[in-house]
Amino acid sequence: MTEEIPNLTAFDEAALDEAFSALERQARAAAAALNGEAAVEAFRLEWLGRKQGRLNEVSGLWLKSAPKEAKKALGMRFNALKAVVEGLLDSALGAGPTDAALAAEAIDITLPGTRRLTGAEHPITRTLNEITSVFAALGYSVGVGPEVETDFYNFESMNFPPGHPARDTQDTLVVAGQDRRPQRDRLLLRTHTSPVQMRTMEQQPPPVRIVIPGKVHRNDAADATHSPIFHQVEGLCVDTNITFSDLKGTLDHAMKALFGSSLKTRFFPSFFPFTEPSADVQISCIFCGGKGCRKCKQSGWIELLGCGMVDPAVFAFAAEKQPGYDSRKISGFAFGMGVERIAMMKYGISEIGQFYAGDMRFLEQFA
Ligand code: DAH
Repeated sequence: MTEEIPNLTAFDEAALDEAFSALERQARAAAAALNGEAAVEAFRLEWLGRKQGRLNEVSGLWLKSAPKEAKKALGMRFNALKAVVEGLLDSALGAGPTDAALAAEAIDITLPGTRRLTGAEHPITRTLNEITSVFAALGYSVGVGPEVETDFYNFESMNFPPGHPARDTQDTLVVAGQDRRPQRDRLLLRTHTSPVQMRTMEQQPPPVRIVIPGKVHRNDAADATHSPIFHQVEGLCVDTNITFSDLKGTLDHAMKALFGSSLKTRFFPSFFPFTEPSADVQISCIFCGGKGCRKCKQSGWIELLGCGMVDPAVFAFAAEKQPGYDSRKISGFAFGMGVERIAMMKYGISEIGQFYAGDMRFLEQFA
């Protein structure tokens, strides 16, 4: 509560000093406690209000009753006090919350904040995206297919007939309790992304240019470079007059885009049931530039992916649904690459298990 303005009985310097400094103290104390706009406005009215303001009262009580000789000294102190009060009001208007208001707040702004990890693409996802974007830039679209696949798409339509020895190289988990189904309908975890070639061709007539990234499964013992679950990017290009030169040019370009333009590629004869002829693609060793080192077993070359011209037997399966896949009229090439293998080469990783361990110290390096 504000005190009443006392009557002034003495008008000597000391009495005036004391009276005015008492008022100034009150004004300062009141200003320091102001909290919020309404309080500031109340302070203004209380001190500077034209009719009931305290300064108005002072001038009425003190200035008017002062003897003539004291009026000048009193007037000077009055003006000084008014300036102080106006200054207090100005800073209250512009100063935001007072110390008292801040002290009452529950937030301790000196505490360190909660650190939010922004996260980053997993190196496998990143490599997968890099590979697909190289082909997207060549006009390829991106497709996906199911991870639980039928025997027909995974094997038969890819020209691995039932009982064919090539099936042994891609052993996998098979869904139990399907003995009454015909073999081609039985479900398994796909061993490669190649079945999506057939799914794509069944859905659309030629021409086709597509890349298919995805997860695949094999009955492989885990070691430094093998994992029973890994990732592949499949590619398929079908059109009139597609030749082995197109395949070579496309993959040579893609490998240069991924590893650098000084890289070289070479093609070696190989075998895949769904391509004829088939080839393994080797790239010049990215560690020694082709001179020969431990990584490339002194050969200067590293084997990286499989490819070939689509086998007419595969087109025959596609033509059952899309007659446009007539191998007398169209031709095509396909390729498949392991994403882990490419990521390990690109980032110099020697243990495939690091990709799946979820160790932040490893993963943060890719952030
Ligand atoms: N599917 C093969 C595998 O998993 C990789 C592959 C080789 C895919 C040649 C292709 C290809 O499309 O033409 O080993």
